[in-house]
Amino acid sequence: MKLFIDSANIEEIKKANSLGVLDGVTTNPTLLAKEKQKPVEQLKKICREVNGPVSAEVIALNASDIVKEALQLSKLSENIGIKVPSTVEGLKATKELTSLGIKTNLTLCFSASQALLVAKAGASYVSPFVGRLDDISFEGMDLIKDIRLIYTQYDIKTQIIVASIRHPLHFVDAAKLGADVATVPYAVIEKLMQHPLTDIGIKRFLEDWRTLDTKQK
Ligand code: G3P
Repeated sequence: MKLFIDSANIEEIKKANSLGVLDGVTTNPTLLAKEKQKPVEQLKKICREVNGPVSAEVIALNASDIVKEALQLSKLSENIGIKVPSTVEGLKATKELTSLGIKTNLTLCFSASQALLVAKAGASYVSPFVGRLDDISFEGMDLIKDIRLIYTQYDIKTQIIVASIRHPLHFVDAAKLGADVATVPYAVIEKLMQHPLTDIGIKRFLEDWRTLDTKQK
């Protein structure tokens, strides 16, 4: 499973990239707004930091405006993929963008029917938001299970990005269910390698090592 960072913050992206296991970046209007920079300039900076795909989201809501905005955004860098909302207008725009060879990431996906139709329109990625479903007492991971089943059954190539990840268990469940990508906020990435028993183990090994006298070492 690929690991993307869900962030528009350069420092976070640099730190995640330095781990050597980062495959890409997803942004959204909220994340870009937090940075208080011109979004286009921020996206260019992000694309210079990472080798993999970088998702940039359109603000437009109707199909022709989505396509226009997507064409502008895709000029920023070869890495850019266009995040398009999972709506009827988004579906029409995706069909057109696919025919133009532009990679798309259909975002705000909350149902398997949305996931199936966006795949039929040629979406490169679909982003089901598990955390936001959990927030309203729906099991977010059930949606990943359903989409994986449907995509596998019909040999659909659209990649599933598990988004709206809130904790390490979401990341592990995404992998268990065969998601293609997990996009993870930096605060959660930091937790993925943490384990108290690892820390206790290191402490004990070092304490025992220190009991040897210098000659024995
Ligand atoms: O980037 C989309 C998604 O990951 C947003 O997550 O935590 O705002 O629901 P969240």
